[in-house]
Amino acid sequence: MDRILIKGGRPLHGEIPIRGAKNAALPLMTAGLLTDERLVLSNVPLLADLHTMGELLAQHGVAMEPGDGGRTLSIGGRITNTLAPYDIVRKMRASILVLGPLLARCREAKVSLPGGCAIGARPVDLHLKGLEQMGAEIRLEGGYVHAAVPQGLRGADIVFPFVSVGATENLLMAATLAQGRSVLANAAREPEITDLADCLVAMGARIEGIGTDQLVVEGVASLHGAAHPIVPDRIETGTYACAAGIAGGAVTLLGARLDHMAALAVALAEAGVEVSETAGGLLVRRLNGLHGTDMKTEPYPGFPTDMQAQFMSLMSVAEGAAMITETIFENRFMHAPELNRMGARINVHGSSAIVRGVRALQGAPVMATDLRASVSLVLAGLAAQGETIVNRVYHLDRGYESVERKLGACGAEIERI
Ligand code: EPZ
Repeated sequence: MDRILIKGGRPLHGEIPIRGAKNAALPLMTAGLLTDERLVLSNVPLLADLHTMGELLAQHGVAMEPGDGGRTLSIGGRITNTLAPYDIVRKMRASILVLGPLLARCREAKVSLPGGCAIGARPVDLHLKGLEQMGAEIRLEGGYVHAAVPQGLRGADIVFPFVSVGATENLLMAATLAQGRSVLANAAREPEITDLADCLVAMGARIEGIGTDQLVVEGVASLHGAAHPIVPDRIETGTYACAAGIAGGAVTLLGARLDHMAALAVALAEAGVEVSETAGGLLVRRLNGLHGTDMKTEPYPGFPTDMQAQFMSLMSVAEGAAMITETIFENRFMHAPELNRMGARINVHGSSAIVRGVRALQGAPVMATDLRASVSLVLAGLAAQGETIVNRVYHLDRGYESVERKLGACGAEIERI
């Protein structure tokens, strides 16, 4: 099994291209189920999770053809099967996003329940409740969601009790082909949702309120093909910004957008890492020392939970203390004990962690059980004295395209072994 070996202590200088966002690409791919015509996505990241989604689309009879060395994906075909089997869904929770499109197109679907994951229980009750409000009959049996809507979905007023990215995406896609008008209130407004909504509009959907927490959708009879570039990955951007912060130096993130990472940029500035816009993207520089900075994760436009682990690595070598509070997932501090094995001083109390900065981390063999925790250990390795070996690299490959090549090109001593 692959591992990443890092010899720490080298500052980063150079350019890193930022690709399309994984968490935009996955729902966009399922939007391909909403039409028989071709949906062509560009700025596609080369990631294991997209491959898994391709497998699932193929299972439904919809083919995915890569072009331009994998940088474009052309999705199209008639849905021949409405079963999303356990063997694929267990590999990737985002598989649940086929449920709304399948119901809208085929009036029935059988989708495996995703089950829990390392960072939390992650139920899908909001997805199911919303579809029930749109007229679907839903039964849970044998680990599967059995959903049917013989008369077709109808528009509904849905008020989310709390913000959910996935539930907003599933119901938004379902609503585009429902009869009548739907209102999604307290909807998530992450840039990935806006990207999905823009793509749906390009496919002929009628959506108002894009970018706000209230989406109003007038259902249409059918959608057509479209071409859509995937929004740059704000989490990949933030991760490499933290890399420049922890290792020192100055890195240009090509194609990155500052407006999608405003809360993170404020926290980085307070911590001593400057992010500024350039012609081709963003320039990130560590100014002098790093300072302990408190932060709390929140739905967009707040500080993203997907950047919490990376920011914790940064804080582990800052001067002073930082209080980090996780409000989205109940178990997203698994990186803390691993960072402590590298000499960090982190105490977790419920949903908060106190990080007392240390002068230096020491390299160690480490591993993590999810994507962002894994990359936070790579960042820690960049700053650590000696060798760090990050195990279970398959987590990294799900969401980061050639992390070792991108960091290596900026002067990090890092290799895949
Ligand atoms: C998306 O997950 C992302 N995944 C996650 O990225 C991200 O961490 C998360 O949004 C929050 O920003 C994709 O986009 C593919 P949620 P999602 O529904 O949609 C609870 C990464 O590292 N909830 O917004 O599953 C849930 O348990 C990943 O790239 C319910 O209780 O997140 C969580 O506590 C990991 N019932 C909270 O809501 C529901 O029906 C927010 O989850 C749905 C969610």
